[in-house]
Amino acid sequence: MQSVLDKKIDKAVELLKNNDVVGMPTETVYGLAGSIYSEEALLKIFKIKERPFFDPLIIHVSSVDEAKSLVKDWPHAAELLAQNFWPGPLTLILEKSDNVNDLITAGMLTVGIRMPNHPVALALIKKWGSPLAAPSANKFKKTSPTTALHVKEEFDQAVYVLDGGNCSVGLESTILYIKQIENNVEIEVLRKGFISYLEIEKILLENNFKVIKARLNHTVNVPGNMQDHYMPKRPLIILSEGRNINESKLKFKSYIEMKLSDLPELAARELYSQMRILGQSNHDVILFKKMGFHQGELWEAILDRLNRASSEII
Ligand code: TXA
Ligand code: MG
Repeated sequence: MQSVLDKKIDKAVELLKNNDVVGMPTETVYGLAGSIYSEEALLKIFKIKERPFFDPLIIHVSSVDEAKSLVKDWPHAAELLAQNFWPGPLTLILEKSDNVNDLITAGMLTVGIRMPNHPVALALIKKWGSPLAAPSANKFKKTSPTTALHVKEEFDQAVYVLDGGNCSVGLESTILYIKQIENNVEIEVLRKGFISYLEIEKILLENNFKVIKARLNHTVNVPGNMQDHYMPKRPLIILSEGRNINESKLKFKSYIEMKLSDLPELAARELYSQMRILGQSNHDVILFKKMGFHQGELWEAILDRLNRASSEII
């Protein structure tokens, strides 16, 4: 007998066949998924998200073979990182093969690929039979969704969402540019995430690669890194360490404090839900106090999102 989940996945596959899009849970955040071979579905993703075409999409795969089909070259360094971190929150940026639609890559020569570590996402991609393009399922520049309900509430039109529960990581994947030339591997973290630079470097060094920091031409837009991303519905103010809220001449009448767990793994999971909940409060602003223990690569990733979402740092 078919399980309830099987039926829901079948329904999602039906929608994909009709060039439609579906909400897909992943371990990081929910995605808005569409067929990489349907221009209609890709256009729908941009339209529903109100996303500009210069912002490229990540492709989600359920096997390394699918990833290989999307790139010009699958270097040994990429194979190693996939073996160690996939399925998981690491997106690899590699030179794209000719069959990848320009809408996905915003006309760039590279493509972002990852294998999500979520049983529902993997089941959907397998049942669909090919990779799925999926940006985070939120309107452009707004807070990423970490529950199915967040996705349902986000868009002006109804979107079918596969419910996969609360996202276990809660922060978007680490995006890594990677280029291997013989024994040298050039890498650069383009977006910080749960998987740290040090973990990535360690795997490469253990396998006798020489790791070089890539010098990308950053005049090329990397939109996930825009300053005003992840904005909550109320202004977010960051209070720097050592600053006292009462001392500073604050322009707002009332505030509500965002409290995150001390452990960064938990804080990452709470961040976007907190932004949504506090964004609905009646207070003038949301306040986040930066503390001395907010250190280490995962806290850096969380603070990166908080900084981009903030209107002011005082
Ligand atoms: O965890 C995640 O990565 C989530 C889940 C759904 O997988 N997806 C996600 O997608 O965060 P999105 O579209 O919200 O952010 C993807 C970002 C883009 O904004 C862009 O900055 C970067 O990935 N990106 C995609 N392709 C790229 C490329 N070829 N070169 C550089 N950056 C790229
Ligand atoms: Mg996003």
